[in-house]
Amino acid sequence: MTHSLRKPLIAGNWKMHLTLTESVRLAREVLGGAPHKVDVVLCPPFTALPAVAEVLRNSPVQLGAQDMFWESHGAYTGEVSSLHLKDVGCRYVLLGHSERRRYFGETDQQLQKKIHAAVAQNLVPILCVGETLEERQAEQTFAVLERQLITALTGFNPIQLSSLVVAYEPVWAIGTGRTATPQQAQEAHRFVRELLARQWGDPLAQSVRVLYGGSVKADNIDALMAERDLDGALVGGESLKPAAFLRIVHFHA
Ligand code: PGA
Repeated sequence: MTHSLRKPLIAGNWKMHLTLTESVRLAREVLGGAPHKVDVVLCPPFTALPAVAEVLRNSPVQLGAQDMFWESHGAYTGEVSSLHLKDVGCRYVLLGHSERRRYFGETDQQLQKKIHAAVAQNLVPILCVGETLEERQAEQTFAVLERQLITALTGFNPIQLSSLVVAYEPVWAIGTGRTATPQQAQEAHRFVRELLARQWGDPLAQSVRVLYGGSVKADNIDALMAERDLDGALVGGESLKPAAFLRIVHFHA
């Protein structure tokens, strides 16, 4: 069972899906059924952020973006910054999703700069980490998590990291229908928390929320959330289906 210090957080990553109209409709449906005991975050595509912000205004459901650049402004054609995200009402930003690492070559060093920019603007960074299938089979899971976390979080003090959220997303479980077992997830989450404790102290490690992501569904969320170090979920495919996503945010109901 999740530690009482940590409020559960369930984030929906809509990825590169949905039109403006579809985004507004989905946000309204989620808002209508969202619980209060859980932080619910919706991460639509950039183009839908202002419209979804309007739907969520003055509601407990928060807005997040799927990425951002590390500079605040300048001649960086095509990029979106932390200032833009704040301007449209984002509170959260996903950083280092495995699809960004894989298709856009995003590195741990670049993520360090992005986290810096997020923290400076009071955006809550959701740092995504996780191993590939080959890395798991080679028993490199912990080494990969350690490298990703230590590099991305180098140079920060515990105060700067106080809002940090980590999402453990094994790459082999994303969009594959193959979820990590609750035990596999718990083992990785405990490793993340112990690493945070070693580097930044126990108070920070006990307050950071560690989410699980990778084929989370209505029928596996309860077992995942029963594990001690799982503080929520980052949901892809199932976050596009209102009934399924609402069942997920009402885990253990
Ligand atoms: P999935 O995606 O739930 O569709 O596996 C999770 C994610 O990519 O964050």
